[in-house]
Amino acid sequence: HSILNLFLAVSPLVFFCGFSLRGQHSQPAARPSDHEGQWTGQESLASDDPEMWDLLQKEKDRQCRGLELIASENFCSRAALEALGSCLNNKYSEGYPGKRYYGGAEVVDQIELLCQKRALEAFDLDPARWGVNVQPYSGSPANFAAYTAVLNPHDRLMGLDLPDGGHLTHGYMSDVKRISATSIYFESMPYKLNPKTGLIDYEQLEVTARLFRPKLIIAGTSAYARLIDYARIKKLCMDLNAYLLADMAHISGLVAAKAVPSPFEHADLVTTTTHKSLRGARAGLIFYRKGVRSVDKKGREIKYDLEDKVNFSVFPSLQGGPHNHGIAGVAVALRQATTPMFKEYIDQVLRNSKAMASVLLKKGYTLVSGGTDNHLVLVDLRPQGIDGARAERVLELVSITANKNTCPGDKSALTPGGLRLGAPALTSRQFKEADFEQVVEFMDEGFKIALDVKKKTGKLQDFKDFLLQDPETVAQIADLRQRVEAFARPFPMPGFHDH
Ligand SMILES: *Cc1c(COP(=O)(O)O)cnc(C)c1O
Ligand SMILES: *[C@@H]1O[C@H](CO)[C@@H](O)[C@H](O)[C@H]1NC(C)=O
Repeated sequence: HSILNLFLAVSPLVFFCGFSLRGQHSQPAARPSDHEGQWTGQESLASDDPEMWDLLQKEKDRQCRGLELIASENFCSRAALEALGSCLNNKYSEGYPGKRYYGGAEVVDQIELLCQKRALEAFDLDPARWGVNVQPYSGSPANFAAYTAVLNPHDRLMGLDLPDGGHLTHGYMSDVKRISATSIYFESMPYKLNPKTGLIDYEQLEVTARLFRPKLIIAGTSAYARLIDYARIKKLCMDLNAYLLADMAHISGLVAAKAVPSPFEHADLVTTTTHKSLRGARAGLIFYRKGVRSVDKKGREIKYDLEDKVNFSVFPSLQGGPHNHGIAGVAVALRQATTPMFKEYIDQVLRNSKAMASVLLKKGYTLVSGGTDNHLVLVDLRPQGIDGARAERVLELVSITANKNTCPGDKSALTPGGLRLGAPALTSRQFKEADFEQVVEFMDEGFKIALDVKKKTGKLQDFKDFLLQDPETVAQIADLRQRVEAFARPFPMPGFHDH
């Protein structure tokens, strides 16, 4: 029993998703490799760096025992994570396949080409009409590289405003400060939601765009539960001779599964992250059109010249060596995304999102735009007398993660009225509609605690302190958390079982 006793002495018992890790990774008291012998680099993380391993254990346990509703998160497959944690991390390969600045790139060339091929296949794209750059490190760098490809400094672009559900990188600036580099290096003008309907105000976009004359309009969102009318924005772009960039970061898994309309029908450029609904390694992609862009008055064809511009913008303008391990992890996920199993997953995401919306409505909650057509719902908690910040904090204390979000008409970004809830992560843990109904029951209990405590407290900090100090509230929270975790833990978890 000595190993077991040692383990019990130094490490709390942690149970992952139905697995017990007892005794699997006992921590040696000393690490001989630090002091003597040759460095082999072959020690496991558990023995090389128990301090980091312990943190990783804690995070794994947190993911397993909690209910993950952050709409941009997902649980990546073990297969893709294996590629991510591989020797591909070691390779430098600045440039593009066949045109590298370093030797030894014959294998990573094949990996990058495979990733490109799979990216086009995943979205049903004709290689004669579309190309893809798979090197962007993440969604934000992909967007900045796409802008840099087609805009000069101080050229104009428009995107949905951040408080209305757009993304920071679409050009966010406040009254007093240019926040996103997109607004620092380019001139950005926001468009908005109609506060009455919670839908994109296309009319206002059209009026503003005709005055502002942007060279690029971005269609894409991070907190919008409805579909985007790409055709309408494309028509506006044609009138203005502007590019349409669709940023499908949140919905790319839904697009791959053909569960929502494809932006590729209308856009000139499409950017995406790969780690949200697409469920891959963390990275970004830029798709660009090839072939004929338009025909001029004399009947001459005008070709797209986006390939060279995007390539040059990503490397050498903005990035150095590509993350080959990330590209491989993306390629693995892109193959998965073409399977019937992935289609079934996304269909279930949509059913779960709808189930979540309908139970919330049945319980009397208000949803921005009144419902959902995609993977997320945006709850407007203001009619309940609470706000997103307080709700988020109570849910966090009961092991439910979600994020506060502004609603149309919100005054404060620190205590916005909304809460954004997404279905992709829990659906990857095999949650079905009935499970989501239970999730809403738990959230409903949390919101009631929030309202109760709000009535007894003042400012947000006061509210937060009370949650941790008032004995009755502490007991209520502990009870709810215990039930949430008992519910969540048995569900399966993608990835490695112990890290
Ligand atoms: C998440 C997101 C991004 C940025 O992706 P990161 O990987 O976080 O940089 C860009 N655009 C939209 C619409 C997003 O939702
Ligand atoms: C652009 O980059 C892609 C890889 O992302 C590559 O396949 C293509 O050949 C490059 N095009 C040019 C013109 O360099």
